[in-house]
This record gives sequence, structure tokens and C-alpha cells, in this order.
Amino acid sequence: MAEEFGKRVVEDVMGGLGSMVLYIGMETGVWTAMDPRQGASPATSKQISEKVGLDPRYVEELLRTASVHGYLDYVPGIHDATTSGAYSGVPSDNGTFSLPASHAPSLCDKGTSAFLGQPLGILPRMAGHGTIPLVIDAFRSGEGVAFSRYGPEFVEYSCRSYAKEFEFEYGQDWMQRKEVSDIRDKLMEGGKIVLDIGSGSGLSSISLAKQFPHNRVLAVDPDETSTKRTEENIAKAESDGRIAPGEVTAHCCYASDAGCGPADLITIFRVVHDLADPVSLLKQAKGLLASHPAACVLVYEHPAPDQFSQAVTPKWKQTCRIGYTISLLHCLPVSMADSNDQKSAAIGTMVSEVTMRRLAMDAGFSSCSTVVRGSRGYLYRLNP
Ligand SMILES: C[S@@+](CC[C@H](N)C(=O)[O-])C[C@H]1O[C@@H](n2cnc3c(N)ncnc32)[C@H](O)[C@@H]1O
Repeated sequence: MAEEFGKRVVEDVMGGLGSMVLYIGMETGVWTAMDPRQGASPATSKQISEKVGLDPRYVEELLRTASVHGYLDYVPGIHDATTSGAYSGVPSDNGTFSLPASHAPSLCDKGTSAFLGQPLGILPRMAGHGTIPLVIDAFRSGEGVAFSRYGPEFVEYSCRSYAKEFEFEYGQDWMQRKEVSDIRDKLMEGGKIVLDIGSGSGLSSISLAKQFPHNRVLAVDPDETSTKRTEENIAKAESDGRIAPGEVTAHCCYASDAGCGPADLITIFRVVHDLADPVSLLKQAKGLLASHPAACVLVYEHPAPDQFSQAVTPKWKQTCRIGYTISLLHCLPVSMADSNDQKSAAIGTMVSEVTMRRLAMDAGFSSCSTVVRGSRGYLYRLNP
């Protein structure tokens, strides 16, 4: 039994190590340079490093590491220890490395459902900025780790991880559901105000404006890096004609300071779980809504079962393994930071429907219904 568990732990460690190797190859562009579907054929590490324009010794070590992990095919060459002039730990040879065609979609095809860049980024982004010792300290102090400690790259990573949901599913699926038909009709009329609270890099704001033009969408986030990214993303969306100039604006502030007047729709996507005091934010949002019956708040959160006993069942296990790990490494410590000496709600990534309804009721909403139950997120409608 103990031996079995030991084997399992070693396998898990190997998997974690391997994912870092794949991530480095992805970020440096080495896998793309080796994509056989783009005409790459088996090549020596020297040839590959020349093709990508990177340091040959680093590329050699990456290719060797990836080969022993079984991610690349390697065909031995002739040892060249005396002539290469380099030690390479194990002497260099002119063996060739190739990326199997079946591995290429997961590692090279950005923007497709096959691409695994997002899960491969979890470890480096959550743990790669020196945050693990801070999380361990937080266990002792009961305090948190500020969002900004995860580094500026975290913002882009976090926001990109839901890019597909926001770009496609948000407008084409979620907003087409009958549960939101009244607010959809309002947005189609134009001239409405949408407040996207905690908008990150603004992808959800831009997507909504694209789907429902002639409205005013305010992307509001207190984080400076996020606001800067939003401004860049808005400028890009305007220049390639996805949205009209001025339809989306970025505001580095809290929702109450956005100063936009009553909002017809308020969206709060993947924010509630990160807050020390989510009820206050929801109350604030309720107070900012227009008075017509379609005005509502839409909240998007990670899926979670209503009872932890379900988390270990086959139906929930995969979702919960990812969600709870992200919670432990990032979301829970973030929610426990900046609580201004008050006790944090300490929710973490996993927000069950029961918890979401309770938060909505505590904030004074009259109802909270689940509009979408997706594999990566649930969309809730909160009515004032
Ligand atoms: C996980 S990110 C989600 C970003 C974006 N909505 C998305 O789904 O990609 C959480 C965001 O909430 C913002 N945030 C934190 N506290 C906030 C508050 N009190 N009010 C509004 N936004 C807040 C953070 O700056 C961060 O950009």
C-alpha cells in the first residue's frame, strides 16, 4: 500500500516536472519550430537552436530533457566528444530530435481547443514568482498573499485562460439563453450602460461590446496592470474594427468610483471568490443598477459541487483537482489579503451554487438563478 502510494507520488512529481519542460519549450517557441505539420523534419539540436535563434546549449538540454520524458523522438547519432569542443555534460552527438505529429496540436496550435498552453501555465504562473514561501507563511499567520505578488505576467495568464469563453461562449451562447432574454433585448436596442467589475484585461467587456454594439461598456478594475492591458486590448479591438471607438472604456478604480450612472447590466466575472468581502461588492453592485425589471447582475465563477463529498466522485474529480489546486496556490491566499483587519470570507476558487445563492441573499438580492452550467464556469443571474 505504502509502496503503491510512493509510486503514485513519484509519478505525480514526474508529471509536474514534465509540464515545466513542456512549458519552457512552448514559451521559447522550440516546439513550434519543430512542428512536422509545418515542414520541420528530424534535426540536430544545433540545427534546431539555429532555426529558433536561441542559445545552443540551452536548446540541447531542453531537447534531451523532453526526450527522456517521452515528449520527443530521438534518433542517436555519432558521438562527437573530441571534436565538438563542448562538454554538454553527456558528450554531444549529431543525433536528431523530432516532435511527433500527434503531440504538435497540444503544444503549437494556439487559439484552438487542442492547445494546452493554459494548463501548462498553471504551475509556472501560480508558483513561479516566489509565492510558495509566502503561501506557507500565510498558513501560520492566517494572512493572505496580495494579487500583485503573483507578478505582472499573472494578469495576462489569468485573463487569457478564459479568452475562449469570453470571445465565443459569452455572446453566442450565454447571452442567447432565455433566462437573460430581457436584458439581451435591452442591449440590442443600444444606448445602455454595462459595468464590467473586475474586468481584468477587458476581454469580457470587448466581447460584449462586439456582440451588442452602440452601448457603453465600462471595464472597471482597481489593478493598474490589468487596466493597462485593457487599454491595449481596447485599442487593438478598435483598430481591427471589432468595436467602435469609445464603446468600451477602461477605468482603474473600484466600481463605486466609475461614475457612470445607473447600469442596465453589471457583470462580475471570476472576481467574487477573490474578495475578502464579496457581500459588500455585491451590495454595491445592486445599488448601481438601473430600476427597470431587466436590470441585473451576472456573476461567473468556477464550478463546484454543493457538498465536498461530491468532489471526489468521478463526475467532479477533474474539475475539483484543478480548482482546488488553484485555490490553494492563489485564490484563497489572495482572498485573505487586503481584508483591512476584518475577517476575510476566505472563499477560494470553488464557489458552489449554494454558496453563490447565500452571498446573493446576504447582499440583498431577491433571487439568484444559474443561467449556464459549463465545464469551466457557472453563470449566475442576480435580480435586485
Ligand atoms: C481572476 S481576475 C478576473 C478578471 C476577469 N474578470 C476575467 O474573468 O478574466 C480578478 C480581478 O478582480 C479584480 N479585483 C480585485 N478586487 C476587486 C474589487 N474590490 N473590485 C473590483 N475588482 C477587483 C482584480 O484586480 C482582478 O483583475
